[in-house]
Amino acid sequence: MALRNKDLLGLRDVPREEIQEILTTAGQMKQFLTNNQKKTPHLQGKSIVTLFYENSTRTRMSFELASKYMSAAAANISASASSVQKGETLIDTGCTLDMMGADVIIIRHPLAGAPHLLAKHVRSSVINAGDGMNEHPTQALLDLFTMQEAFGSLEGRKVAIVGDVAHSRVARSNIWGLVTMGARPVLAAPETLIPMDMAQLGVDIDHDVDKAVRDADVVMGLRMQLERQQAGLFPSVREYTRYFALDERRLALAKPGTIVMHPGPMNRGVEMTSALADGESSRVREQVTNGLAVRMALLFLLTRRTAQ
Ligand code: CP
Repeated sequence: MALRNKDLLGLRDVPREEIQEILTTAGQMKQFLTNNQKKTPHLQGKSIVTLFYENSTRTRMSFELASKYMSAAAANISASASSVQKGETLIDTGCTLDMMGADVIIIRHPLAGAPHLLAKHVRSSVINAGDGMNEHPTQALLDLFTMQEAFGSLEGRKVAIVGDVAHSRVARSNIWGLVTMGARPVLAAPETLIPMDMAQLGVDIDHDVDKAVRDADVVMGLRMQLERQQAGLFPSVREYTRYFALDERRLALAKPGTIVMHPGPMNRGVEMTSALADGESSRVREQVTNGLAVRMALLFLLTRRTAQ
């Protein structure tokens, strides 16, 4: 099945069968990784560019490695070392890459909507690698993949998402994806860190973390985004940790066989204890490998679509 759109800008409007197609293809890609097969022909003759206006370790590196493992020409532009510093606009930068023959441009930008603007002006496929506080669809896809690996179907699964929801593009994309796949997201955070309109997205909200985590199949911690905080949203990091951090006592409230997830990078000891992050239930490291598999799948499906 081909993907409907030339771009992946968010999960909000991606239908269930397309999400499933990406996850199923990611399963095939993971087989290559498991077999240590790092040279496949899937992207032969394709050019993939990462254009990052914000820092990244996992997302940027996994897209670069995915491109190289599948035989594409891969290049990276950091905004700090490009003509953006001389005043070039996003559209001009994008059109320059387009005219050089980039098949896919992967963009991370601090402003919500930047990938959507770029996608309107280029022939290349555009993948949103995180736009401000809006969406981070490939992170949510790798999270869904990790949950499907653990449970098979997501139908009816309770997913407790705990932490700084207000600033989290990961949470927003996960909510869209989880609801589409039939799961039950429950958000838990201080009232000031959950926007009022979240209740309309088909999620439950509980400001008591113990209640949110009780009988959960998945316990997902979110990074406290200290760089995006406005003053006064919570009293102090120490206080947040005392009342909201995920720890072993809280994990014991979840279902037997629950899995612990975190998108990274993690503030260890703030949103989650190291005992949980590194414990038996943790899938945090597996998420990183799955991120590579999901991005391989997505690059393959998007470039195959344009080739047809
Ligand atoms: N989860 C995530 O987006 O990590 P990076 O910021 O390292 O890409």
